[in-house]
Amino acid sequence: MKPSIIVYKKVQQEIKNKLEQDCSVTYFEQPDYEKDPLFWKHLQKAEGLLGSGLRIDEDFLKKAPCLKIISNSSVGYDNLDLKAMTNRQVMGTNTPGVLTDTTADTIFGLLMSAARKMPQMHTLVQSGQWQQKITESSFGVDVHHKVLGIIGMGRIGNAIARRAHLGFGMEILYHNRSRNEQAEKDYRAQYCEQEELLRRSDFVCLMQPLTPETKHSFGREQFQQMKKTAVLIVGSRGGIVKEEELADALKHGIIGGAGLDVFEQEPIRKDHPLLGCSNVVTFPHIGSATLETRLEMDRLASDNLLKGLKGEVPPNLLNPRNEKVIVS
Ligand code: 8YV
Repeated sequence: MKPSIIVYKKVQQEIKNKLEQDCSVTYFEQPDYEKDPLFWKHLQKAEGLLGSGLRIDEDFLKKAPCLKIISNSSVGYDNLDLKAMTNRQVMGTNTPGVLTDTTADTIFGLLMSAARKMPQMHTLVQSGQWQQKITESSFGVDVHHKVLGIIGMGRIGNAIARRAHLGFGMEILYHNRSRNEQAEKDYRAQYCEQEELLRRSDFVCLMQPLTPETKHSFGREQFQQMKKTAVLIVGSRGGIVKEEELADALKHGIIGGAGLDVFEQEPIRKDHPLLGCSNVVTFPHIGSATLETRLEMDRLASDNLLKGLKGEVPPNLLNPRNEKVIVS
């Protein structure tokens, strides 16, 4: 009997063929799948889940008595309550590595867009407002040879540093839970305490994971430590920045500008104060959003899922290693 699994994101045919060889698969591709009673009906017998962003906590797990593995097609896993999952011997996995360069490209593109007001300039031309020479109000700020401070120097932060230093001659400062000697060697990155980083940086890029410690850890106090000309880039997870305080800082010139690819609530609500700021650039969480990369993520996520269902250790197991969660 093939194990039943639920796939709650759109996946390409290659992935469907691979999963259906070993599993009985039910697909929920619509964004509001949680409103579909069939989702909850199938969950009662599902042994595996594949998707991204679904909040998995104790209440959810009570409705999924047969679950053995939850495979995130994402590098972030703040949606998983790993403690509750481990207590129920449910494995959790993610997809690190395969999306690093694509996401770093996106976030550096966001930095460039915010620095040079690219979306605003595109709109100016498209809307017929380009009637005379561009004035200083349309000027941006230089990126090359400026100081980039990265908070959260993991794989993606490191890839952003590579682009910035080797491509744009930027000086790299970083703050991280641990030192990154390779980045110090390769990009002359300087480890700083956060306050010094904020004081010295022309661009501040937040690339930490969302954890109870980082949630709402960046607000008015941090903006006031930054240069008045500095640009904040939010590239890892919404919820780290106090968004209303950011909007206030942007409107009152506490900092020079911002670019965000992620938000505390996604999609962001239309009347959010951030969207009323002229010095902000916003992307709809497109960090890893290319066909090639999403296929690679789904390939890895399906490998993790299938191995876990066979009682093997998945390549990207997230549960604490000292806990026995592998069930054959
Ligand atoms: C999203 C991401 O998961 O990998 C992550 O942690 O944030 C992104 O890759 C992806 O956009 C699917 O929502």
